Formats: sequence, structure tokens, C-alpha cells
Amino acid sequence: MTLNLDIVRKNVIDCTKCELSKTRTNSVPGKGNFHSDVIFVGEAPGRNEDLKGEPFVGVAGKKLSLALEEAGISRDDVYITNTVKCRPPNNRVPSKHEKETCQEYIEKEIEIIKPKIICVLGNTAFGSILGGTEITKFRGKVGKKDGQLYFITIHPAATIYNQGLIETLKEDIKKLFELIRELKNGKDIPIDIEFSA
Ligand code: URA
Ligand code: SF4
Repeated sequence: MTLNLDIVRKNVIDCTKCELSKTRTNSVPGKGNFHSDVIFVGEAPGRNEDLKGEPFVGVAGKKLSLALEEAGISRDDVYITNTVKCRPPNNRVPSKHEKETCQEYIEKEIEIIKPKIICVLGNTAFGSILGGTEITKFRGKVGKKDGQLYFITIHPAATIYNQGLIETLKEDIKKLFELIRELKNGKDIPIDIEFSA
């Protein structure tokens, strides 16, 4: 189990499959607890992540940590990753080609960790993973695609310039861990939206 994720990690670090490899400082593999019940998925690394080679270590990451702490969860308890593992220049949105090329890594992370639920952070991840748009309409909701459960919430970076949104993020993350508790107790949770595979 651990060995496989180590291989994915190494492959991400060495990857040159798309043009983002030319401008990155470091690739940013997923990080955290391999036995986590949940995988958090952001868009792509930003400047701090690119410099450190770790996901969500900048200001957006602090917001995510804050919301997790409020729910009584430590970052070390969960697994955090991105749809695209290298920083797009000037933090532009990753292209369709970059997302498609990088997709195999997140698929492997999911296959190995087998999370009870995947938490989609913000519009880009929502679009890449579930084909969704309009995160503000879907946030706080549970989705299902191909037998896998998803929880949809806003991107932590959205809370930086809109203080009110930090309460939204905290509320959603609390709900997420309540749902995880139910799942661990063997209960079914209500599905708000079915996404086609
Ligand atoms: N924003 C993201 O989407 N991912 C990170 O890792 C950091 C900021
Ligand atoms: Fe490879 Fe993904 Fe980085 Fe592109 S973004 S070089 S596919 S790891």
C-alpha cells in the first residue's frame, strides 16, 4: 500500500509529461495520511507550493488548516492533493491538456487510498473531477459518480479576500466530517446529486 503511493510520488517528482515541467521549481505530489477517509483535491500548486514541493502550504493552505482545526481534525489525519501537480505560470488555470495529462496520478492516489469520500475544493477541481460548474450553488452538497462519494466545497483561497467565506468553508468542513462519522458507523448518507461517469 505505502509502497505504491511512494512510487506515484516518485513518478510525479520526475514527471516531464506536460509543459508545466519546464517552468516549475518542484512538482507537488499529494501529501498526508495514506489511510485517510478523505482526499482533499485542490486545483494546482501556487508559488509557495512550487517552492516547497508540498500542497497547500501558502495562505490558502492556512485557511484549509483553520477549517480542519475547527472540525477537530489535524492536517496529518487527512490526505491533500491537486488535480494538476505542477504550478501553472502566474497561477493561471491549468489547460485541458495539462489536466488530462496529469489525471493518471490522481486516479492512482484515489485507487490506492480508497477514500470513503473525496472533498472537491473549488471550481477547477469541481470541473475536472465531476464536470461541474457554479461551485457556489453546489457547495455543501454530496455527489456520487461511478460509485464514489464526493463532497463539494469552495476553494480555501476564495476566503482570503472574502472574510465571510471562511465561515462557509468551516461550516462545510464540519459537515463533511459529520458525514464521514456516519459512513464509518455503516450508515448511508443522502446523495444530493448523481454525476454521470
Ligand atoms: N491552491 C491549490 O489549489 N492548491 C494548492 O496546493 C495551493 C493552493
Ligand atoms: Fe507531469 Fe502533471 Fe507536472 Fe504535467 S503537471 S509535468 S503531467 S506531474
